[in-house]
Amino acid sequence: MSTSRTFATSLARLSSTASRTPRTQTQTRALCSLPQSWSSNRPRTSFSMRSLVPAPAPSSRAFTTTSPRRHGHLTPPKPGEELHVTFIDKDGDEYKFQVSEGDNLLDIAQANDLEMEGACGGSCACSTCHVIVQDEGMYDKIPEPEDDENDMLDLAFGLTETSRLGCQVKMTKELDGLVVKLPSMTRNLQASDFS
Ligand code: FES
Repeated sequence: MSTSRTFATSLARLSSTASRTPRTQTQTRALCSLPQSWSSNRPRTSFSMRSLVPAPAPSSRAFTTTSPRRHGHLTPPKPGEELHVTFIDKDGDEYKFQVSEGDNLLDIAQANDLEMEGACGGSCACSTCHVIVQDEGMYDKIPEPEDDENDMLDLAFGLTETSRLGCQVKMTKELDGLVVKLPSMTRNLQASDFS
């Protein structure tokens, strides 16, 4: 047998032995894993299902906002159109203000830093804006309370025959000179109870 033929035969035997020998787990793992330099140097690509979801078509509805109603901010009355209202606080001190037609007693009190909680923001859902109208004749000039106001007044501390909710009483020309007293206490509600 020639030298070259001997070498070829040995090579063929070696190859067939290698293909029959089962690979160990370590060998298999090594073959399947990427080279270290490949896996550590490649930048990571973030991918999420969201990128596959098509963006919604733009809505044809216009987006609008309404300015929130702010309490305690009043427009000063025009010259010659001033109306007058007096608050008496629980210490008996009197505070007289010139206001515009349409202002309600809660806004007037809060704009002038009087002690009136107005916890529900004037939505007739508490009794913390309770006021007592001092004059019965003036009380009769105020439009009758709605059922909602009566329901809340029933919960008011120190209810009287001339009690009203300040947020529901709007100044009119007929009410020019109105005098109201703030009760010594209100039910313990705060604006945060309504948020
Ligand atoms: S502020 Fe709540 S009822 Fe007037």
